[in-house]
Amino acid sequence: MFEIVHKETMSAGNVFLHEIKAPKIAAKAKPGQFVILKANETGERIPLTMADVDPEKGTITIVFMAIGKSTALFGTLEKGQGYQDVIGPLGQETHLENFGKAVCIGGGTGTAVLHPIARALKNEGNHVTTILGARSESHMILKDRMDKISDSLIICTDDGSAGRKGFVTDALKEILETEKPDIVVAIGPVPMMKAASDMTRQYGIKTIVSLNPIMIDGTGMCGGCRVTVGGKTRFACVEGPEFDGHEVDFDDLAKRLRAYGKEEKEALEKHKCNLDAAV
Ligand SMILES: Cc1cc2nc3c(=O)[nH]c(=O)nc-3n(C[C@H](O)[C@H](O)[C@H](O)COP(=O)(O)OP(=O)(O)OC[C@H]3O[C@@H](n4cnc5c(N)ncnc54)[C@H](O)[C@@H]3O)c2cc1C
Ligand code: FES
Repeated sequence: MFEIVHKETMSAGNVFLHEIKAPKIAAKAKPGQFVILKANETGERIPLTMADVDPEKGTITIVFMAIGKSTALFGTLEKGQGYQDVIGPLGQETHLENFGKAVCIGGGTGTAVLHPIARALKNEGNHVTTILGARSESHMILKDRMDKISDSLIICTDDGSAGRKGFVTDALKEILETEKPDIVVAIGPVPMMKAASDMTRQYGIKTIVSLNPIMIDGTGMCGGCRVTVGGKTRFACVEGPEFDGHEVDFDDLAKRLRAYGKEEKEALEKHKCNLDAAV
């Protein structure tokens, strides 16, 4: 069992942080990589990015939103309990160097994925401007951790309850017009990554996004994580999850992510009924 040694509940009560004992993974994990977790014998395999790693303590940290049956089950796991399987590290690590001026954009729970990448860019000597977006203040996650590793932090909320009212792309546009960043990293909902990439393309700024297609084996065998990048089929689990945002077919990704929407909704409703019956 992979024991949960620390748990936090954040963002309107449906986003959870688990710090998990996994020394072998913690010793090897690099920014940008992810793990696949299974809660129990019959559980579904869920890919989640490592929001943090502590090789000395031998722990990895995941931050996830309980949106479906399996993530809802993950959310019920408490400190002292654990996951049956944690496989990783998987995927390619982020390409890091001193680009100069980096703009890091996190939307919703995508901020958890952005955190280790932004910190690594800062450690490489980049000047890091971070833009965080959420629906409202209560949906914002990891604000303090992002503040610590950023040279400047801009907060945007859709309803204006914290920081500036508006989308992260409004803040990005102002930065693109006033100073020329050398690299933009945008991680969050597909429409956000698409909007940010469309904008930076006009300014010719290299843009990295991290994709979250459906994943099954995570080893490049099943083809479940197919994405179209530069007109070619790529497997996000082994060739990604990071790709050039200017080359990604986001409409194709959005369509594939919706493919099992009906089944996921039914599974979540059945899961809730079973939980209600148990209490
Ligand atoms: C690489 C990757 C890895 C992931 N790993 C995890 C993980 O480890 N754990 C997890 O729970 N989830 C993960 N996800 C899932 C993903 O982050 C969430 O599904 C997504 O952020 C939606 O979250 P939300 O509902 O809070 O977004 P929303 O609240 O709907 O949106 C968040 C913000 O995005 C911006 N935005 C939204 N739409 C637009 C638009 N059209 N134009 C401009 N800006 C827009 C706004 O600022 C908005 O406030 C991952 C996603 C990616 C891309
Ligand atoms: S998840 Fe199976 S090939 Fe990527």
